[in-house]
Amino acid sequence: MALKQFSCQGNNFLTHTAKTRGLGVSFWAMTKRAKPWGYNQTPSTSSDRELHPDTVAVRGALQRTGFQETSEALFLNSGFTYDSAEQAEASFMETEDHYLYSRFGNPTVTMFEERLALIEGAEAAHATGSGMSAMFASVACLVSAGDRVVASGAMFSSCYVVLTEILPKWGVLVDVVSENTPEAWERALSKPAKAVFIETPSNPLMEIVDIAMVAELSHKAGALLIVDNVMASPVLQKPLELGADVIMYSATKHIDGQGRVLGGAVLGTKQYIDTQLKPFTRHTGPSMSPFNAWVLLKSLETMSMRVNKMADSAFAVAQALDGLAGVKAVHHPFLDSHPSQALAKRQMLKGGTTLALELESKAAAFKLMNALQVIDISNNLGDSRSLITHPASSTHRRLDAETQAKMGITAGTMRLSVGLEDPRDLIEDLKLALKA
Ligand SMILES: Cc1ncc(COP(=O)(O)O)c(C=O)c1O
Repeated sequence: MALKQFSCQGNNFLTHTAKTRGLGVSFWAMTKRAKPWGYNQTPSTSSDRELHPDTVAVRGALQRTGFQETSEALFLNSGFTYDSAEQAEASFMETEDHYLYSRFGNPTVTMFEERLALIEGAEAAHATGSGMSAMFASVACLVSAGDRVVASGAMFSSCYVVLTEILPKWGVLVDVVSENTPEAWERALSKPAKAVFIETPSNPLMEIVDIAMVAELSHKAGALLIVDNVMASPVLQKPLELGADVIMYSATKHIDGQGRVLGGAVLGTKQYIDTQLKPFTRHTGPSMSPFNAWVLLKSLETMSMRVNKMADSAFAVAQALDGLAGVKAVHHPFLDSHPSQALAKRQMLKGGTTLALELESKAAAFKLMNALQVIDISNNLGDSRSLITHPASSTHRRLDAETQAKMGITAGTMRLSVGLEDPRDLIEDLKLALKA
């Protein structure tokens, strides 16, 4: 729903409230304002000039109420009222634009969705309560029993569980492309499919899938291509420009990026969001809390600054660790040693804020993690604080040893999410911990 179309109840609302509460004229006088309550009819961002991305991130989709507040208003309410039964009926029939219930839509959540869509260059966005609900809804809204889904082999374990355990329980056939080569993708997509789901770069080993190639093959197979763009963030990679149809985010990661709230989002064409995704989420209910949307709106304002600095630091840390005694491998898409460096440079602005680091054994990895004094041990990523995790025993623990091995996760693999600290302190922390 476009905010500007939301009708203003104005002074009727106040008289009605005063009457029904029996508070009389003094309440009316106390609450009377020069400007009516509710939304202005003109959008605050009415510039017809093309604005640069950093301006859009601060001002995009901002809608002010009659109070003309600087920052976005937080509508922390579950329901909405109607002037009449007829208006309620018309709202449910969608002949009148009116919020119904915060499970379906809420003004603060709408601002977050519209701003994120503007940043991404997508026609539409829908916010969800977590990245996993975004991931599940993005695929589940498309498929029925007997449909085929094709997925990349290296990904966050919960996404892998949804694809290889949960959807097959309901008769959806899922083929995983473990070998990330053009031939393997061509083979997998030589048969019809309904959806293709890829994560690039992958969590935790930063494997890169060729988005443009897979988009072309997906479309030939009759499938929509859904990209989990969490590891790159909206700042470093634009899958829609490379031919993808749908993007999903864990807003918990770089979008919040300050360790505060969970959130998720799905972006795509208006047709996909309105006619496929929203009918699914409307009834299954993975809605984003208006409070989280309000926090995330503020986060979007600083996302580009944060992600750019974190990505620069991640590359500096990766270069500093590469080749150090005791370090078996460093996985970062922009390092010369990365097998898909050229592809990563084609489809990403920078190599991401995360790298993977491999030591000889689990004992060596645990020793390093326990010796760190600046970097925290935590399973989140994309945060302003640098965080290190041991995927085999935490984020990817749910996968059996064979699947972990196929994804390249060894007992000595650690994922390092680089934050906003001075990279010199991070490099020193890691070097001292390696020697401990
Ligand atoms: C690549 C990727 N996709 C999806 C998710 C799920 O996001 P959330 O934890 O917000 O549900 C994560 C979480 O770590 C992730 O790393």
